[in-house]
Parts: sequence; C-alpha cells; structure tokens
Amino acid sequence: MEPHAVQPPTTRYAVVTGGNKGIGLETVRQLAKAGVTVILTARDEKRGMEATRLLHESGPTSNVVFHQLDVRDAKSIQSLVNFIGIQFGRLDILVNNAGVTGVEVDGDALRAKNIDPEIWLAGKAVNLIQDVVKITYDTAKDCLDTNYYGLKNLTEALLPLLQRSTSGARVVNVSSLRGELRRVPNEQIRKELGDVETLTEDKIDRILQKFLHDLQQDALEVNGWQMMLPPYSISKATLNAYTRLLAKKYPNMCINCVHPGYVNTDINWRTGTMMAEEGAQGSVVLALLPEGGPTGRYFDRTQVAEF
Ligand SMILES: NC(=O)c1ccc[n+]([C@@H]2O[C@H](COP(=O)([O-])OP(=O)(O)OC[C@H]3O[C@@H](n4cnc5c(N)ncnc54)[C@H](OP(=O)(O)O)[C@@H]3O)[C@@H](O)[C@H]2O)c1
Repeated sequence: MEPHAVQPPTTRYAVVTGGNKGIGLETVRQLAKAGVTVILTARDEKRGMEATRLLHESGPTSNVVFHQLDVRDAKSIQSLVNFIGIQFGRLDILVNNAGVTGVEVDGDALRAKNIDPEIWLAGKAVNLIQDVVKITYDTAKDCLDTNYYGLKNLTEALLPLLQRSTSGARVVNVSSLRGELRRVPNEQIRKELGDVETLTEDKIDRILQKFLHDLQQDALEVNGWQMMLPPYSISKATLNAYTRLLAKKYPNMCINCVHPGYVNTDINWRTGTMMAEEGAQGSVVLALLPEGGPTGRYFDRTQVAEF
C-alpha cells in the first residue's frame, strides 16, 4: 500500500479587532501560540505597534503582524481588506472584539463604591451608579457605531476573504451578558430580536433608531429599554441578533457570539473579577472550532447558553 503523503499543516490567518489591550490582546497571544498567523489590529497605530512589540518580546509570537483598524472608519476597513488580500489572499478567522461602553464614567468614584459583583452582573446597580455615570447622545451613538455598525461593516467587507478560507471560516463576535434577551424589558423588542425567522437587518436598524430617539426624549425607562448601561446593552443584544442572521446566510462558516466573563479590563473601569487570560478562552475556543462545529449560537465563555 502507498504510504500517505504527509500534508504540511495549512497556515490559518486571523484578524482580532481591539487587539492592543485587554481580552483582545490576550486573544491574539493565545491564537498565535496555537500556530495561527494573527493580524493584531488597533485604532491607534502607536498603541497597536507597542502591543505587537511587547508580544514579540515576550515569547515565540513572530506570527503576529500589526495593522491599523478603526472599525468606525470605512477607509481604515478598506485599507485592512486590501492588506490581507495582497499579503495572504484569504482570511480564516475574524474575532470582532473591539467595543466601548457608550457612557462617561468617573472610574475612581465607581471603584470606590465597591459594588458587589453579583449585584453588578445582575444589572441591579443602576441606582448605585447613577451619580458617576453619564450618557449623552454622542456617547450612545459612538457605542452603536462601534459595537454594532462597526462590527457589521468590517465583517461584510471581509466576507469575500473569509469565503476563500480553505478550512471553513470562523467568526467570533464578542458580546456581553448585557445583551441577553431576558434582560430586555420591552416585550416587543425582545420578541423581534429573538425571532430569527422574521428578523431582518432593517428591523435591527429600526430598533436602534428608536433607541436613540427615546434617549433624546429622555424616555428610555418608560419604553422598556434595559437601564444598566443602556447603549451598551442594546448594542450587544443587536450584535447577537446579527450573529444569528449571518450564521443563517453563511452555513459553511461557524459564526457565533460569546460573553467573555466579568474580566478585569478598562471597559468595566477595572472592576472585573477574572483575568484577561481566562476572558480570552471563549473567543479562542470559538475561533478554533473544528469542522462541523456549532454556528449561530451564543456562548457564556465556553458553554452554549440562551440568547
Ligand atoms: N471585560 C469584561 O468584563 C467584558 C464583559 C463582557 C463583554 N466584554 C467585551 O469584550 C470586548 C473586549 O473588551 P475588553 O474587556 O478587553 O475592554 P478594553 O480593554 O477596554 O478593550 C477594548 C478594545 O476595543 C478597542 N476599540 C474601541 N473602539 C474601537 C474602534 N472604533 N475601532 C477599533 N478598536 C476599538 C479599544 O481600543 P483603544 O485602546 O484604542 O481604546 C481596545 O483595544 C468588548 O467587546 C467588550 O464589550 C468585556
């Protein structure tokens, strides 16, 4: 019998957004360690290059390259797409990790409150944080433009390269438990976002427009929006819904979203209880899912959970 020719392992190429710090940086490190060639992206060139330099210094991560990416900026997205097209010709993994909170917070004052993590995670800290948190139309709009539209625009721009993946592309959308449907008080919005058979991208757009309208009218609570970090919560609920739409449209890929855990990073003003190393595990497991793995699902860290 002819011996089987040994195939050299195929290199996989990954993009991680918001890769300069926190969970993103750790996701880059773990994917690189697993042998993936990772494009670490950051909106700020200096911060991104410094993070890449530190990674190179700290271990065998020569398979990490830097490229600037601000997910809110169409030109920046196009520049990344061109770079990957020319350098690698395809993309195997996209980790949509970049995110912002959509509020202005006095971090020192928040930490001084020493809020019980259980109360925080249950979304029951609304009254406790009222005096240190400020939401404006601009902070809210920036949050939706980053966490929802930025992620969506980048994914759409990279889809042609993802479709060229030889191993079946993986898309990981980093979400949050704040986006879980049971936390959306408004029944109609909860139902619309939860019914993937009738949901459309237009419907999601209308929900987000209504949110911004209600914010301007000071009518968030009365209209049943989640009051714990409202812009962030709806941005993640819509991101989860978009994940399901995308997974339906591209059944040959594994497209999932994940809550990384309550991780000690800048996004929660350093109140989290977990290390970034643990927080990156969900993203990494979903990025490296084997063929035939789950798609269109929401994960709480590494476990499938209810949307
Ligand atoms: N930490 C948690 O407990 C927790 C819980 C649930 C979900 N998450 C999610 O996990 C993800 C990572 O957050 P993290 O905890 O690691 O927070 P982080 O340390 O604050 O990191 C956020 C990253 O997103 C980047 N970013 C923000 N706006 C961007 C834009 N327009 N274009 C490109 N990059 C942008 C930031 O860049 P700059 O450095 O330039 O600001 C930073 O690299 C987020 O999606 C977050 O919602 C975190």
